[in-house]
Order: sequence, then structure tokens, then C-alpha cells
Amino acid sequence: MIATLLNEIAASEDQFQLATYKKMQIAAERGEGVWIYTAEGERYLDLYGGHAVAGTGHCHPHVVKAIREQAEQLLFYSNLVYSSTRARAAEKLVSIAPASLTKAFFCNSGTEANENAMRMARMTTGREQIITFSGGFHGRTADAISATFLGKYRELGKPNVPGHLQAEFGDIESVRALADETVAAIMLEPIQSMAGVRVAEPGFYRALRELCDERGIVLIYDEVQTGVGRTGEWFFAGSAAGDGVVPDIITLAKALGSGIPVGACLVTDQIGARIKENDLGTTFGGGMLAMAAVTATLEAIEADGMLEKVKTVEAYLRERLTEVESVVAVHGRGFLLGIEFIDKAAPVHQKLLERKIITGTSSNPKVLRLLPPLCLQRAEVDLFVSALEQG
Ligand SMILES: Cc1ncc(COP(=O)(O)O)c(C=O)c1O
Repeated sequence: MIATLLNEIAASEDQFQLATYKKMQIAAERGEGVWIYTAEGERYLDLYGGHAVAGTGHCHPHVVKAIREQAEQLLFYSNLVYSSTRARAAEKLVSIAPASLTKAFFCNSGTEANENAMRMARMTTGREQIITFSGGFHGRTADAISATFLGKYRELGKPNVPGHLQAEFGDIESVRALADETVAAIMLEPIQSMAGVRVAEPGFYRALRELCDERGIVLIYDEVQTGVGRTGEWFFAGSAAGDGVVPDIITLAKALGSGIPVGACLVTDQIGARIKENDLGTTFGGGMLAMAAVTATLEAIEADGMLEKVKTVEAYLRERLTEVESVVAVHGRGFLLGIEFIDKAAPVHQKLLERKIITGTSSNPKVLRLLPPLCLQRAEVDLFVSALEQG
């Protein structure tokens, strides 16, 4: 085999790391907007955003500047001190959240946000059980993986945390049957991403809200993927697609720090009032570098009018996809889209990669997932569609 730079990098990574990921044959070196440049100088159109993280695009100048300036000032101090950087991030995040979500708790990842959300639900209700859904994914730490009924994940997390119940996504009767006085929370991805981008009818979210209100259950939206502008709204919570329903807790991560690891829970006054000193904690949560990234990320989305642009470009993409014969349906909202093909999506994913376009697959073999940066434009949609049309 000819020793290319990619081969050298791959061999080195593989030698010193556990082989936990099936990797694409790309060594990413530099990023700009929707583009990734490889160690070998090639350019890829990134419609996957590194697992939905690059919401503002790769290396958005405003975010890079804020991180650089913060790094020169103070990388980190823990929650034992106040910080104007943390204060700004919390204020900014709460200001864009639905009005009833008034307090933030910062952590470091999506799974950790979900663990803390479930813990808050148990603490505030005095109950233990958590209802989640078939096809949902919530992370890989003990409680979150036990709440994940997608595929094999729960199996990987054995022995599971007790008290997790599975309902059918979109089927309110299946939830009603489980939602008794032992249930602390109902938690869902409002759009199930890994399951193949599944959205329920707006009435399902409304019925969940009513059921939770009636039975004193905490409603948690895992917006780790849908949050921070991905659907063309700041959050799925409060959107028309969800009949305006606002949960008691939203969890966030992924795009929140544009690539600097950060997670968050947004909670109501009622829940906030029940959480006391030392009930929750994490060393790194709320660190200055991450907080600077959060504020700058939200500012960049706002300043560039990305939410509006997502909606316009989504409409254009949907329209263009009607021209592609092999496409059966397009699921999802904004830039969380599942393109369903007549046949398997994996060969399409591979062909696109050969044409230097990165997309994602899902647990539905016929669905290709797109999670591009929110700054994707029409010209790049055209590139994608013509690559698809080449078959
Ligand atoms: C909906 C959802 N929740 C939670 C997680 C877990 O997030 P993390 O990998 O940051 O722990 C993910 C990750 O893919 C996710 O998609």
C-alpha cells in the first residue's frame, strides 16, 4: 500500500486508541463554515456537523475570537467562585429559552445533562420511575443508557439502573398505561434523531403535557440534538411542530459550545426552587472557556440570522429533493433531516463520501441523516442534490 498521510495518521490513531468508532477515511485538519479540509488538502462538504456539534459552522470567527480571548484571560475556575463570563452565558441562554424556563445548570455533555434532569425530576417528585420511548437515545452513562430503548444500547449498559419504563413514541395510550403515581418523569427526544428522524403529531406533545400536569410528572425534552437552532427555532419546545408545548426541563449539549464540550439543563422556577446547595455538581461545568463559547455561539446564531436562514434553505432542500427519484420522503425539521430512500441508505452515504460530501446514517437502514451547520446555503444544497442525482 502507498503510505499516504491519511494512512500514517490512521495507523497512529488505531495503535494508541480503543477501536470504538468506525471511522470515515478522512483526517480532518481544518474547518471553515460548512467545509472540512483534510490533512491531504482535500475539501469535504460537511452535512453532518461532527455529530450535530458544528451548529455555527466550523470555526465561526466570532466564536473563535471569544474562545481565544477567554483562553488568554482565564481558562477555568470552578463553581466555587462567581464569574462574569458564566453570568453572561446563563443570562443569554435563559433569555432565548421559553419564558417558563428561568434557570440553567451547566455540565459537560448530553448524557450528563440527561442524568441531571432525571435526578432533578426524582428529587422534586420523590418518585423513582422514568418513562422514555422506543427509538429514543439519551446517552451512554448508567442512567441515560438505561433510559435508551434504541437498538442494543441498554444491553451495553447492563446492569441497568432500575425504574426505567418504555412507552411507544407517538402513542399516548402507551404512556397513559404506565404513568402512575410512581413516575417521576417522562423524557423524550422530541424528534428522534438516531431512530431515523421520527417526529410525532403535534397533538402527542400536547397530550404528554396534559398527562404530566394531571399526574404531577416532570416533562423533560432531550434537546441535545434539536436545541440551539437546529430546527430553525431556538428549541423544539414552544414550537408549532410541538403544538407550543413547553416541558419542565430542557437538556442541551452538542451545538451549544460550537465544539467546546458543554451541556446544560434549563428548568422552571418550580424545579429550580427545590434544588439546593450540593444537590448537583460537576467540576468542569460552567468553566470559563465553555461559557465564553456558549455566549458567542448564541450571539453568532442571532447576528447571522441563522434561524431564518435554516427555514429558507430547508424549504429549498425539500423542494430540490422532490427531483431525486430514489427519495421516498424527507422527515424532520430545519437542519435535522432524515432522507428516506427506496433502498438502503448506506451505499448512498458511501457514494456521497466518495464525492466528498459527509452525511450520516441512522438506525433506520433506509434513512440518511443530515445535521449540517446552520449556515448551509443554497449553492451547497445544489452540490448535494447533484451528487445524489449522479446515483
Ligand atoms: C438526543 C441525544 N441525547 C443525548 C446524547 C448524548 O450526548 P453526549 O454524547 O454529549 O453525551 C446524544 C448524543 O448523540 C443525543 O443525540
